[in-house]
Amino acid sequence: MSELKKILLNKISCKSVWFMRQAGRYLPEFRSIRSKNPNFINLCLNSELSSEITLQPIKRFDLDSAIIFSDILIVPHALGQNVTFLKDQGPKLDKFDMKYFSKINKQEFSSKLSPVYKGIEITRKKLNKNKSLISFIGAPWTLLVYMHNLKKDKNQIDINQIENDNYNIDLFIEELIKYLCIHIKNQINAGADVVQIFDSWAGLIPNKDIKKYCYIPNSKIVNFCKKENIPIICFPKGIKEKYEEFNIFVKPDGINIDAEIDPGWAKKKLTNVVLQGGLDPKILLKDDKEVFTEATKYIQTFKDMPYVFNLGHGLLPETEPDKVEKLVNFYRNFK
Ligand code: CP3
Repeated sequence: MSELKKILLNKISCKSVWFMRQAGRYLPEFRSIRSKNPNFINLCLNSELSSEITLQPIKRFDLDSAIIFSDILIVPHALGQNVTFLKDQGPKLDKFDMKYFSKINKQEFSSKLSPVYKGIEITRKKLNKNKSLISFIGAPWTLLVYMHNLKKDKNQIDINQIENDNYNIDLFIEELIKYLCIHIKNQINAGADVVQIFDSWAGLIPNKDIKKYCYIPNSKIVNFCKKENIPIICFPKGIKEKYEEFNIFVKPDGINIDAEIDPGWAKKKLTNVVLQGGLDPKILLKDDKEVFTEATKYIQTFKDMPYVFNLGHGLLPETEPDKVEKLVNFYRNFK
């Protein structure tokens, strides 16, 4: 069993480190592959290259877990929605239609994603047994935001737009959950051993709707994973003190805290769960001393309890790989 799986399921306390977006643009070896593969979705669906990219940060830093190189938007792609990534503009999705759900069946969906699963198989064979291979999905709310272009600017969404159209959001979420669970199960069958749910835009949900759009959908997926014995980490980014209520309601095996969450608060309030992450990825753009001071806050607070060292969000493209290496060494040598 991988170390991460042991930590999540048996709540043992040992050192374990990986980073969100560890396979990405801050690595020159990633940029080199990317420059020859302008279509991002096709790159995610290239099993050999996806596996190679997944292993790049492991080769460099000997991290304890690999996260499969793919994207949360591969699911809308497999459902038939057109997804493109324009340079420096982020993802662009065509209008989603409920008819997509009736046009596709489960076999077709899985077969469209089979290169992802093949990439996992290849990677698992190459990865040391005690290292975890993490699979992931986007949470229904975060996918809703992308699939219906609800983001107006950096910190605002407009849900009224579809609510006023009498669009059946509940039905959309229910249908989506079915496919997300299939995608989880397929990734695990291919050799992944942990799953993380990214609810990156949970912080934009109006208070009155947080249960409906965040806690309930996350908990349905967590319950599916528990039934299937799949260790699961949730990341409801940006929900502030509601992390406490989320944890009580959803009961995941692990929870990633974001940089706004005070580690001392998390230690007190987030119980019966393995904590992960927290350190602001922006800190890695500062000098070593600042990086180590900030990292110490997390390492010291969570010493002697199960804690997975990670960040409060993904590594930024501007990050110097040397900084990441220094941080890993600092964490590993911390006594
Ligand atoms: O290393 C890893 O973490 C594994 C791979 C991974 C990617 N995306 C690769 C990627 C993971 C886990 C994701 C998750 C993801 N994708 C999320 C949730 C986490 C988060 O960042 O909040 C979201 C919201 C997406 C959607 C997405 N994909 C966006 C908004 C963008 C463009 C802007 C950005 O942040 O880079 C992507 C593209 C993307 N996904 C890249 C990578 C390495 C960059 C591609 C490139 O332009 O070269």
